[in-house]
Amino acid sequence: MISKCFEVNVLTLFPEMFPGPLSYSLAGKAIDKKIWSLKTINIREYASDKHRTVDDEPYGGGPGMVMRPDVLGKAFDANKPNNKWKKIILTPRGKPLTQKIVKDISSKPGVLIVCGRYEGIDERFIASRSLDEISIGDYVLSGGEPAALILIDAIVRLLSGTMGSSDSLIEESFENNLLEHPHYTRPYKWEGMKPPEVLLSGNHAEIEKWRKNIALEDTQKRRPELLISEKK
Ligand code: 6GU
Repeated sequence: MISKCFEVNVLTLFPEMFPGPLSYSLAGKAIDKKIWSLKTINIREYASDKHRTVDDEPYGGGPGMVMRPDVLGKAFDANKPNNKWKKIILTPRGKPLTQKIVKDISSKPGVLIVCGRYEGIDERFIASRSLDEISIGDYVLSGGEPAALILIDAIVRLLSGTMGSSDSLIEESFENNLLEHPHYTRPYKWEGMKPPEVLLSGNHAEIEKWRKNIALEDTQKRRPELLISEKK
């Protein structure tokens, strides 16, 4: 079955940053196969003054510049997404990105992503266009563009036809709130270390049991909050 091409529109001040790393590996091959498509929109083209100003000083004072709502509003309205699409704005103030959010986005026909820059974005733009605010973690980037590349990568690998084997989608980290079990491959002996014997036993039930156990143990040790949180 051929499914429709998943569309990604990105509003950014730095369109040259795209597709960047997304033209390689899985995502790059999936673009060639028309599983997804990318369109960048340069926000600056919607500035109306002769200097093409996109930002201004914050009301109330303080450091940095704020992206103007009028320019963003025009850029957004000229590229209005279908109402079935997700509309995302990437800022460090957003809801933390999870695999559940990625899955939800990948189930739609497309996504519009606004990349924040400078110290912030006028709040009225975010509210008026009902954008979902997403952050990729508790650290600060200089702009939303690297976050958009990460978000798009996570979405694209879930699209039907992108991955070789759908098995690797089912058993991976964060499914069932567990980290994935550790992996081993050849050579059998490396720097004096061997893989756990059970993996060479050929006993699939025992292997499965070992993997489940160690996944649970490692999650408890490394990310205990995953085990007590709701399904993310
Ligand atoms: Cl989405 N943007 C910026 N500028 N910093 C971030 C982020 C996003 N997520 C985490 N830090």
